[in-house]
Amino acid sequence: MTAADPQLPVVVVMGVSGSGKSTVGLLLAQRLGVPYAEADDFHPAENIAKMSAGHPLDDADRAPWLDAIGAWIKARDGRGGVVSCSALRRRYRDRLRADAPDLFFVHLDGPLELISSRLAARMEHFMPPGLLRSQFDALEPLEADENGTVVSIEGGPQAIAERAYEALPL
Ligand SMILES: Nc1ncnc2c1ncn2[C@@H]1O[C@H](COP(=O)(O)OP(=O)(O)OP(=O)(O)O)[C@@H](O)[C@H]1O
Ligand SMILES: [Mg+2]
Repeated sequence: MTAADPQLPVVVVMGVSGSGKSTVGLLLAQRLGVPYAEADDFHPAENIAKMSAGHPLDDADRAPWLDAIGAWIKARDGRGGVVSCSALRRRYRDRLRADAPDLFFVHLDGPLELISSRLAARMEHFMPPGLLRSQFDALEPLEADENGTVVSIEGGPQAIAERAYEALPL
């Protein structure tokens, strides 16, 4: 890929917590030579305050957050970008692609046991095991009419990023 390529995709790396979105998303962005963003960085101050107080977000809270990510996606349209966002529900993905119909989703998928073991080794933010279960319960897989692909999280980050790259509509 070079800057001369006319059209670079905008990619959302999605999946449950601990599936490797941040790790693989950054590698994929580097592979493409495009900017990388973290969905968590788009929360308005009210959401951060709510989460810090231990309260879960509802869909009304998520709306401005998803719209802010959607604006970043739209701004990268045609120039390429990678953003990691759990995007577990179809309606969240619909909102993200509202202004960017070509948006491509890479779903990092793997067994709960594997993700659980990776999370256990992750020091910086602890996640109670029950929360991972609830993420799997909430997950609505990509549907046939959605632009995207499922990538296995077996193996190392570079191999996963390479599989994701190969699956992109380039
Ligand atoms: N392929 C891999 N092999 C081994 N460890 C991995 C792999 N991918 C990610 N990890 C590790 O697993 C942990 C979870 O990965 P990461 O933080 O990228 O997931 P995430 O989906 O971004 O999670 P969150 O939703 O909480 O932001 C990290 O400690 C990361 O270093
Ligand atoms: Mg992450």
